[in-house]
Amino acid sequence: MADFVRSYMQRTAKSKKLYSRSTKVFPGGISHNIRYYEPYPFFVESAKGKKLTDVDGNSYTDYWMGHWALILGHSPKPVADALLSQAKSGTLYGTVNGPSVELAELIQKLMPRADMMRFSTTGSEATMYAVRLARAKTGRRVIAKAIGGWHGFNTTLMQTVNYPFEFEEGPGLVQDEGQYVESIPFNNLEASLKVLETIRDDLACVIIEPVLGGAGCITPSDGYLQGLQEFCKKNGSLFILDEIVTGFRLSIHGAASIYKLEPDLFTLGKIAGGGLPIGVVCGDKEIMSLADPVSRTGKEARCAIGGGTFSANPLTMAAGLATLNFLRSNPGVYSKINRLGESVRRGLAKIFAESQVPCEVTGTGSIFMPHFGRNEVHDANDVATSNKAALNKYHLSLMAEHEIFFLPGKMGAMSYAHDETDVKKLLAATEKICQSGILK
Ligand SMILES: Cc1ncc(COP(=O)(O)O)c(C=O)c1O
Repeated sequence: MADFVRSYMQRTAKSKKLYSRSTKVFPGGISHNIRYYEPYPFFVESAKGKKLTDVDGNSYTDYWMGHWALILGHSPKPVADALLSQAKSGTLYGTVNGPSVELAELIQKLMPRADMMRFSTTGSEATMYAVRLARAKTGRRVIAKAIGGWHGFNTTLMQTVNYPFEFEEGPGLVQDEGQYVESIPFNNLEASLKVLETIRDDLACVIIEPVLGGAGCITPSDGYLQGLQEFCKKNGSLFILDEIVTGFRLSIHGAASIYKLEPDLFTLGKIAGGGLPIGVVCGDKEIMSLADPVSRTGKEARCAIGGGTFSANPLTMAAGLATLNFLRSNPGVYSKINRLGESVRRGLAKIFAESQVPCEVTGTGSIFMPHFGRNEVHDANDVATSNKAALNKYHLSLMAEHEIFFLPGKMGAMSYAHDETDVKKLLAATEKICQSGILK
């Protein structure tokens, strides 16, 4: 057993016991597949600012930040205060409420093209509704997505998520369910357009993340997203941006403003809920109005998109409002987290180069990810065929020996709670890990 694994196990005895109990109640011991890593995940007792503290009392600087949702860090004061206050006036009304209108109006102000929206409880629902709306609007059936693109666990979009991106994503998902979903190679415009051309008459929409997040923090090449958008506009298909990671992270106006895109519909999640569960499908008024159950009756039936028991619940609304209001009145958040992100990307690339560890560091703004054994990364295939074992070793070693947490195998994100000392600490730890030789 490697030293860092032994060290991890020595420091996490209580987590080990809890994990053993956990496997008796949850398949695999977890409630989200990506949260398992070897030898077993540590269990968190509390989180504040940039720190996570586990049940054994170890404290880690966190770069996972709640699936990248916590742009202000864990339990930031404005959000915690808003939640405490809201909890006293009710946690779930199950009715329409004022704060939901306020949050929607704020999103409308901040996000170009958010004419109208619907709140749901998860991002997976929001993307499912977005593509359903596209089918309703166009009367066509086929949805195109990127190979490796992640839009959540809904059945429609659980296609070509995992390497080798060819088969159904496991038992329970039958091939027929994928017959109206086509996949295109991210960052290869020519090949993507070729695929779209073959399905153009039945193409309802292209749904795409502006930066592939779950597939490995891959930025779009110049003109790629614009080329897809142009094809969609000409073809009468909808162009849908999945901004569940990038919305309010790459800028307060989303990736659409950075890459100068004009999606017909787009989805938000994560940061929009200030750390509480949310999904949002937004966009063009005419398209969103297809879901209007009040005016669309009889033959003009509404497109059935939902929301659910917990949609627009007042706690999420309060946390979302506190977060977005803070971001709006503190534009310095973005300059800070982007500066930290840039320092990390540059610093890591330099250390890996000097240590002769082949590794491409991808990312933009406040997000970043190393890919061992690679000098270039353009798509999900490049990431999937990189040296994943080295990445897992790197992340576990950071945890076991340097009190730094990344969810193994996943990209990292800076929050407003991080600062330059964290960058220095991460780079110094990386240098030591390179010297130990475990990454070669
Ligand atoms: C781009 C993207 N879309 C959709 C989702 C699904 O969101 P949720 O996990 O809230 O269902 C995620 C989750 O990570 C995501 O990264």
